[in-house]
Amino acid sequence: MKEDMLVSLDKIQKSYTLGQKPVHVLSGVNLDVAKGDFISIMGTSGSGKTTLLHIVGTLLQPDNGTYQLDGREIGSLSDRERSWIRAHWIGYVFQTFDLITEQDVWHNVAMPYLYRGETKAEVGRQVDAAIDVVGLSERRHHRPAELSGGEMQRVAIARALSIAPKLILADEPTGNLDDDNSKEILNLLRRLNDGGATIILVTHDQHVAGMTNRILTMKNGRLAS
Ligand SMILES: Nc1ncnc2c1ncn2[C@@H]1O[C@H](COP(=O)(O)OP(=O)(O)OP(=O)(O)O)[C@@H](O)[C@H]1O
Ligand SMILES: [Mg+2]
Repeated sequence: MKEDMLVSLDKIQKSYTLGQKPVHVLSGVNLDVAKGDFISIMGTSGSGKTTLLHIVGTLLQPDNGTYQLDGREIGSLSDRERSWIRAHWIGYVFQTFDLITEQDVWHNVAMPYLYRGETKAEVGRQVDAAIDVVGLSERRHHRPAELSGGEMQRVAIARALSIAPKLILADEPTGNLDDDNSKEILNLLRRLNDGGATIILVTHDQHVAGMTNRILTMKNGRLAS
């Protein structure tokens, strides 16, 4: 049964230490996400949603519990193997966009390829295609400061999808956007999901969450449906 799961988390725990005091954030998270699924995670601010996405994105290691990504036990991999997985399988849309301010749209979207050791010249076509999907071809030479909030969000999505990831992790991709822009971002994610990408979306917006296949809520360090 677990073979059809892309993401499988079992009793994941995570605390941060701030000074001497531990901050318990995740206290036994179980999560199974099937290939091709599109789920959303809700929960109050500080409940651990971003922490969880960081673990699923292999950016952060849990203190306890097991994480299998496409059948691979992530905890037993080396740093190098984990960065390979990030570079080839995972598209991450960060809560804070994390665009490079000095570079234009095109070079921001081309960024993940540098982590794969491929040169920009080799990847021109895929980058152009990703920019086209989010409807920003006319803005390809704009830098982040020369874009609207919705456009910046779309650049972050284009960057995540330029590598055709198996798994897209989107942390509040519609935060700070008006209804029309939110709808556009969501339609974009839906199309990517139709194209086969598995998506985990964090949102505080009930309406946005309602458009995904399944809503889970982070509460007391655990996920509940
Ligand atoms: N590096 C860190 N060191 C110590 N505590 C941290 C660290 N990162 C996060 N925390 C704490 O862990 C808790 C969970 O943070 P997290 O960012 O996962 O929450 P969140 O659910 O994404 O919140 P939001 O909806 O506001 O984005 C918070 O209480 C936060 O203060
Ligand atoms: Mg967060």
